[in-house]
Amino acid sequence: MASSQLIITRKHPHAFFLVLTLADDADIEQVREVVAGFSGTVRSVSSRAPEANLVGILGIGSGAWDRLFRGPRPALLHPFIELDGPHTAPSTPGDLLIHLKSDSAGLCYEAATKVVDDFGANATVVDEVHGFRYFDLRDLIGFVDGTENPVGQAAIDAITVADDDPSLQGGSYVAVQRYVHDLPEWTSLTTEEQEAAIGRTKADNIEMDDETKPSNSHIALNVITDDDGDELSILRDNMPYGRADGERGTFFIAYSASPRTTERMLANMFLGDPPGNTDRLLDFTTAVTGSQYFAPPGDFLDDPPLAPGTAGAAAPEPPTTTDGSLHIGSLR
Ligand code: HEM
Repeated sequence: MASSQLIITRKHPHAFFLVLTLADDADIEQVREVVAGFSGTVRSVSSRAPEANLVGILGIGSGAWDRLFRGPRPALLHPFIELDGPHTAPSTPGDLLIHLKSDSAGLCYEAATKVVDDFGANATVVDEVHGFRYFDLRDLIGFVDGTENPVGQAAIDAITVADDDPSLQGGSYVAVQRYVHDLPEWTSLTTEEQEAAIGRTKADNIEMDDETKPSNSHIALNVITDDDGDELSILRDNMPYGRADGERGTFFIAYSASPRTTERMLANMFLGDPPGNTDRLLDFTTAVTGSQYFAPPGDFLDDPPLAPGTAGAAAPEPPTTTDGSLHIGSLR
């Protein structure tokens, strides 16, 4: 199996999330060069401050995939499915996703600006979020976020695509949504009411027992199982974001071996399980974006297949980057 991008890491204090769309008249060869040079760009920025542990992940949306690469495509890659019920989860444009995380915001900035400058007029950033660590891994609603993420082999299993074309094995599906919180409304609740909405205690972050946990709590609706009763997991890497004079919320990002797992959770939250029994958290937070990607294995990205419609079957020229990277491999 090809080597995955570095998705499973410890929690970094900073993350930049960039959603980009490709111009209708984008120069596809130039875009492919930036994509193929992405890991080299991250490596060369990282090498200037290795202690800051910069990590970069690139995801490719369904429409962009067909414009960039010929040959096999990820079997389950499709645009984010909009949900319109008691709550709305919009599907918004996104051809490329860049997820940068580091101990230093400066490194995220440096890598983000390099990549965006390299894309030039070929791509437009339609959403850019700078996430930060808020106290002890709490989101802006005050609860610790990420506790029940799978770890070790369970995390690898939860995010790694195995039943696809060999060149795509080791990739992951990625869903992102930007949420805006109504913090005045949320903070007007008592702590007990907030805990009932989440299904965990706030201060010490303990899961409520099944008798106490309301069926419309965030946890109750997001613990799902397959036909054999085994729990289905995703790997979340959410970050708080916000402006003192503007929107404040959570950038939700989930990696998974199948988009269906995340889609079932979203349906439970927005449409309800049973229908109408929607996530209490959504009374206080609104999804304003939603898009979906495939993060291919690192080997695929570094040496992608030819673009559709190009002549010949030879491997493309080795990618050239503007960073002067020698592509001698990661030191991680
Ligand atoms: C758990 C917050 C959106 C899936 C949690 C927890 C918090 C939280 C505080 C409990 C601690 C933990 O295990 O991480 C939020 C916030 C969101 C959000 C603030 C957006 C505003 C979502 C979405 C999904 C999701 C959109 C799925 C599509 C999960 C799952 C768990 C979880 C699977 C763990 C359940 C368990 O095994 O106990 N979330 N979440 N969350 N959330 Fe979210």
